[in-house]
Amino acid sequence: MNLRHNEPSSVCHTGNPNYQRFLTGDALLGLQPEDTQAATAEISSWPGYAPTPLVSLPGLAKHADVAAVLYKDEAHRFGLGSFKALGGAYAVLSLLKLVLAKQGIEASATDLLNGGYSAITSKQTMVCATDGNHGKSVAWGAQMFGCACRIYIHEHVSKDREAAIAAYGATMVRVPGNYDDSINACARDATDNGWTLVADTNAGGGSAFVPQLVMHGYSIIVQEMLDQLSSSPTHVFIPAGVGGLAAAVAGYWAITATQDVPRMVVVEPHVANCVFAAIRDGEVKPVAGDLNSFMACLSAGQVSPAALPVLRQAVSDVVTIPDQAAISTMKAMANGQYGDPPLVSGESGCASVAAILQLANQSELRKALGIDANSRIIAIGSEGATAPEVWAEVVGRLPETVNS
Ligand SMILES: Cc1ncc(COP(=O)(O)O)c(C=O)c1O
Repeated sequence: MNLRHNEPSSVCHTGNPNYQRFLTGDALLGLQPEDTQAATAEISSWPGYAPTPLVSLPGLAKHADVAAVLYKDEAHRFGLGSFKALGGAYAVLSLLKLVLAKQGIEASATDLLNGGYSAITSKQTMVCATDGNHGKSVAWGAQMFGCACRIYIHEHVSKDREAAIAAYGATMVRVPGNYDDSINACARDATDNGWTLVADTNAGGGSAFVPQLVMHGYSIIVQEMLDQLSSSPTHVFIPAGVGGLAAAVAGYWAITATQDVPRMVVVEPHVANCVFAAIRDGEVKPVAGDLNSFMACLSAGQVSPAALPVLRQAVSDVVTIPDQAAISTMKAMANGQYGDPPLVSGESGCASVAAILQLANQSELRKALGIDANSRIIAIGSEGATAPEVWAEVVGRLPETVNS
């Protein structure tokens, strides 16, 4: 478990001077309504699909001095434990369809699920680098749609996360160093061997095409929330690593909602604040120093260029929070500390709620973010206990002891 004792205990905030209600130019290129609608139609037809719950947390809302907190609980996504199930697997399917299309074959997901064209698909190898959840999605997609898979992890990825990916039949490759080192090793091997890189970022260079497919997969989360809501929220808090999830949620909301677009607030760890820096400074520089946060999946040092044009327009604010906030929030949610039903939320999954709680007594920051006692806030809960041993260490019991 990565822990820091010397970081600021409060929230840092920046507004986005370039925020705009409607996406234009580059931002729209990567997030066409027809692409996101195609992804939604595709994913909702997969076996085991169900919208994830949008859970009202009135006790927590009272504690945070807002009217409502609605928690989009991605722990239940396809049995994989995080929203990431959507993106990598959708990209794998799309890429396999393209391989087949080049041979004049128009295949559906059902064809591939039934083992159709396996003589061709089994010769394809999908590869990616991951902190855990993206790799699990790519491995799951590869197994489901019938191709080979190699997943690269860095030295800080927990054994639990490694085993959870390997369970989907992927060959695991552990490399020394951090996330960026695993990305570089994976990209090099993909080029050398003719494997297909299914990255959720193009920060290391390369085309935006695949990371955009991944973001299209995530956009179903917004469609579900629009169906689940009876009135528009005022804010949506979204955890960010490379910014793909935040771009998909904020961008898809902007191109879909006809009125009342909520303020889109990105949440990052203090130590891995690449979206914060890009929005505040208007330029993209890799974040220096040790990026390893307790919020393991948010420990990214470079914004995805594929996500950046959307983030620059569709995100209204970015906040960064200390690791300690995520730790106490994970425990509070697990124990139903504010009188709400207990929930299993992982290290990165609880970041949005942690930010909302951290802001409770910060009147200046609340003003800057437009938060008051009438605010209705969605917190994207991006994962459950995807590293069960970390969750158990923090909470003091196993995730299975919580019925959610
Ligand atoms: C659980 C979880 N939450 C949030 C994120 C951040 O998503 P992104 O890297 O697209 O910003 C990730 C990324 O891996 C994740 O696994």
